[in-house]
Formats: sequence, structure tokens, C-alpha cells
Amino acid sequence: MSGKSSKRPLILVTVCAALFIGLLIAVIVIVLKKDDVSPAPYLPQECPSASNLEHITGQKDGLGVSWYTGNITVKEDITRLRDVALDLNDQCCVNKIGKGTLEYFHDLTSTMIASVEVDIRSLSKSWDGLRLALNIDQNLTLIVTMNEETNAYERLWDVLLARNDIDENKLLYNMKGYSAAFKTMSSSAGSPLIYFDIMPRDASKIIWSHNTDTWEQLNAATEGNVMMIEGDIRLFAEGTSNKTDTPIMAHDEGDYNNLSFAQWLDAIIKVDKGMKFDFKSIGAVRPALTITNRRLEINGPIWLNADLLAGPGQKPPTVPAQEFLDAVELFPEATLSIGWTTIQKGNNTHLKYTMDNVQEIHELCRNLSQPVTFPVRAEQFRDSLDEFDWLLSQSRSYTLTIWTGKGDNVTQDDMTFMKGQFERSRVYFDLPRNDATENVLDSYKSDDKVEA
Ligand SMILES: *[C@@H]1O[C@H](CO)[C@@H](O)[C@H](O)[C@H]1NC(C)=O
Ligand SMILES: *[C@@H]1O[C@H](CO)[C@@H](O)[C@H](O)[C@H]1NC(C)=O
Ligand SMILES: *[C@@H]1O[C@H](CO)[C@@H](O)[C@H](O)[C@H]1NC(C)=O
Ligand SMILES: *[C@@H]1O[C@H](CO)[C@@H](O)[C@H](O)[C@H]1NC(C)=O
Ligand SMILES: *[C@@H]1O[C@H](CO)[C@@H](O)[C@H](O)[C@H]1NC(C)=O
Ligand SMILES: *[C@@H]1O[C@H](CO)[C@@H](O)[C@H](O)[C@H]1NC(C)=O
Ligand SMILES: *[C@@H]1O[C@H](CO)[C@@H](O)[C@H](O)[C@H]1NC(C)=O
Repeated sequence: MSGKSSKRPLILVTVCAALFIGLLIAVIVIVLKKDDVSPAPYLPQECPSASNLEHITGQKDGLGVSWYTGNITVKEDITRLRDVALDLNDQCCVNKIGKGTLEYFHDLTSTMIASVEVDIRSLSKSWDGLRLALNIDQNLTLIVTMNEETNAYERLWDVLLARNDIDENKLLYNMKGYSAAFKTMSSSAGSPLIYFDIMPRDASKIIWSHNTDTWEQLNAATEGNVMMIEGDIRLFAEGTSNKTDTPIMAHDEGDYNNLSFAQWLDAIIKVDKGMKFDFKSIGAVRPALTITNRRLEINGPIWLNADLLAGPGQKPPTVPAQEFLDAVELFPEATLSIGWTTIQKGNNTHLKYTMDNVQEIHELCRNLSQPVTFPVRAEQFRDSLDEFDWLLSQSRSYTLTIWTGKGDNVTQDDMTFMKGQFERSRVYFDLPRNDATENVLDSYKSDDKVEA
């Protein structure tokens, strides 16, 4: 064989490829026949070499694809693993997914159900291509495999972001010793779209309770169909000599609603809803997160919000950015909601979020491993679409949360317009209920129904 190959290498390679494919089909046929008995197919022990791979797969993008070489532990979500598993492990493969690989996946899945396995370390850099492949090929699923390594915990965020970005049936997880950590993270920092099982993934369908700072509002929110409950947090008697370390629900300094943060938290945990902590002072962050950390039974998503940068109107922020980012490490399993200070537009029709605003916040957030949502004042969203388009394109982990202040000039037209400007899974509407804008939201929703 080696004598001939030195004369006609191309033909030989083609013949080998054909033989291999033949063998492959034989293996698959055998595996399909005993599908009921064993979910794990026979798999060769060695990664094929790169040169073989090129011929086998006809790829032009440099991504190696190989047979899965080990056993996948079938547990938790890995129940539908069958037929074929491919390994995109970066030990034998280069990183990005290109057209050649997409075509290969497509050919492969036209005749069988296939699972592609990707090492957690390659997930984020190849995610755009993988998502495309998974969306195109209905017979394709992805197995995300954890490998032991020192910063494995941080990599879990990559898995979470992928999970939040695709149909749940498309991903299987092989998390080894990190299953529990991933479960915890994916509940408290999970996208509300996943947690509340919103299908299709339209973030405007999440129902909010805004400024939920009194017992009356809290009871209404926990009893109703609200999904995410937002409340404002300060320290008791902030700004006076009586100040304590006890976080309470208060929008402004001097507000006292006889509702402590701990009571608020426990009432919401009981009904398994999501929470957004709106920190009005830096002093309240550590005490509140320390309390949150002691609650082991949190299931719903938690968002941590503060206005860290000066936005339209240039009002100086009262929560210092770095101190906030350091403090939230106390409770890392959260989505960070990081925003700008704003002022009401009033007669200043030119007020909007600028390119400088969005670039500055991206600089602040680019190295964060958690998902980040940016709160945006509705009346100033409309004129800043280019800026937010740029911001959302910087990371798949970025979303927007539209909010509005009392008396803001937000019309139904504005709402209709905002709808559909960006991917629906990436724009939340944390709007106050029980005030003038409720009508706006209602019209917004009924529009939606007509279209759907
Ligand atoms: C997979 O695991 C099963 C049970 O643990 C074992 O019997 C089998 O030999 C393993 N297969 C491979 C390819 O390692
Ligand atoms: C999926 O695989 C099955 C074989 O398992 C095949 O019959 C079918 O055509 C494939 N579907 C697509 C969309 O390629
Ligand atoms: C501090 O609390 C005491 C007792 O409740 C009260 O009399 C006093 O006015 C408070 N001081 C301030 C500055 O609020
Ligand atoms: C404060 O709330 C508690 C329940 O936590 C209630 O028993 C008490 O009557 C309330 N006090 C006032 C002044 O509203
Ligand atoms: C806006 O302009 C009108 C008319 O010029 C004026 O009466 C009103 O006070 C202004 N409002 C604000 C908030 O400046
Ligand atoms: C983010 O990381 C880059 C590269 O590691 C570094 O240059 C930059 O200073 C970091 N930014 C922040 C805000 O930490
Ligand atoms: C509200 O905003 C619209 C533009 O979006 C403008 O035409 C209208 O005059 C504004 N109304 C008030 C009361 O400021």
C-alpha cells in the first residue's frame, strides 16, 4: 500500500477516504440497529490525524472533526445521545467553525442523527458557527464537555450563555464534577426566558413588577402572574446618624416602608419568581448579597442592577463602578444589570445615548464573565438605535432592558417602533405597571398577539 501511495497519493487518499466512509456507514448501521440496547456507539480510540481529516471531511476551514474517543457518561440531560458523536476537542482541532465544517455537518445530518461534542474551552470562540449549524440542521445536537482545569468555574458562564442562546433540545451537557455548580448558576443567573420557559424566546413576554418596595406591592407581585420582581435597596436610615447595616426596600433616602430586604427576598423565594436588586447605594450591596448567599433555596434568576456611569444628562453616578464590581463577586451567579444615570428628556429633544456612552460601558463590561444587561430609558432609546446596535454586536452575553420613568414621553408608537429593532430574545421591558404606561404596555402586547 505504501509503495503505491508514493506514486499516486491522491488516488490512494481517495480510496482510503472511501473505505473509511464505508466503514463509518457500517458502524452507523450497526449502531442504529442496537439503538435500544446501548446509547454509546462503537468508537475508535484515536483521533484521526489532521491530514486524514481533511480528506474525510472535505473541509476548507481548518477545523478538525474527529470521532469521539471516550465514553460519554449518560446522565442528566445527556439522554438523547445516540448514533454518532463527533469531537471538536481543541486537542486535535483548530478553533473556529467555517463553511467547510458547516457543510460537513449538513451532509452528515441529512442521513442520520448526529451529536457534535465540543470542549468547553472552545465553546465561546466557536459558538457563532455552532449556533448557525445547530439552527440549520435539525438532526444535529451539541454535547458540551467539561474538562478539569483551574479556571473551569469561569468557563461555566460560556456554557450558560450558549444555553440561553439556543433551543433547549439542541444542547447536552457533560459537566463531570461541575454539574451541581452549573445547575446553581443556571438557575440564579439563567435567562428569565429559559426559567419561565417563554416560547418563542421573546423577552417582551416577561412580566415585571417595577419598584416593588412596599408590602402591598410585594404581595400583589408574589400573588400575581408577575415573573420578575424589581425592588430598590438601601441601608436603613441611610444619610442619618442612625444608619445601620440592614438593607431595606427604599427608592429614595428617607423612604421607610417597613419592609426589610431579607423579608422581601424570603417572600419571593417562596414563590420561585425572579428578582432584580436595584442598588441605590454602594453600602447596601455587600450586606444584601451576604444575606442572599445564605439562602440556599433560590431557584429563579437574579439580576444585580446599579447605575455605574454617567449617561444622557451627565448626572454623576452615586454607585462607584469598581467598588460595585468587586462587591458583586460575593454572589457571582447573577446577571449584572449595569447602566447609566439619566435625566428626563423634557424639552431637551436631543438627549440620547451617545457612542461614547456605549463604548465606555463596553470597556467596563468586556472582561466580565457574567451575562450583562444594559438598562435603557425608553424615551431615549428611539434615537440611539445605532449605538445599541453596536453595543449588542460586541457580545452574545449582552441584552437590553427598557425601562421608563413616571411622566416620561413614551407613546404607543415608540413601543411599536422599539419592537423588532433587535433580536427579540435580547430586549426586555421592565416597565412599571399600575400607572400611565400600563396602557402603553398593553397595546404593545396586543400588537404582538395580532402578529403572532
Ligand atoms: C463505556 O463504558 C462502559 C460502561 O462503563 C464500558 O463497558 C465500555 O467498555 C466503555 N466503552 C468505551 C469505548 O470506553
Ligand atoms: C434526519 O435523519 C434521518 C435519519 O435518521 C433522515 O431520514 C432525515 O432525512 C434527516 N433529516 C434531515 C432534515 O436531514
Ligand atoms: C435616630 O433615631 C432616634 C430614635 O428613633 C430618633 O429620635 C432620631 O430623630 C433619629 N435621628 C435621625 C438623625 O434621624
Ligand atoms: C411592619 O411590618 C410588620 C410585619 O413584618 C407588621 O407586623 C407591623 O405591624 C408593621 N408595622 C407598621 C408600623 O406598619
Ligand atoms: C418646556 O418648554 C415650555 C415652552 O417653551 C415651557 O413652558 C416649559 O416650562 C418647559 N419645560 C421644561 C421642563 O423646561
Ligand atoms: C480587559 O482585558 C484587557 C485584556 O486582557 C485589558 O487590556 C483591559 O485593561 C481589561 N479591562 C478592564 C476594565 O479590566
Ligand atoms: C413626545 O415626543 C414626541 C416625539 O417622540 C414629540 O413629537 C412630542 O412633542 C413629545 N411630547 C411632549 C409632551 O414632549
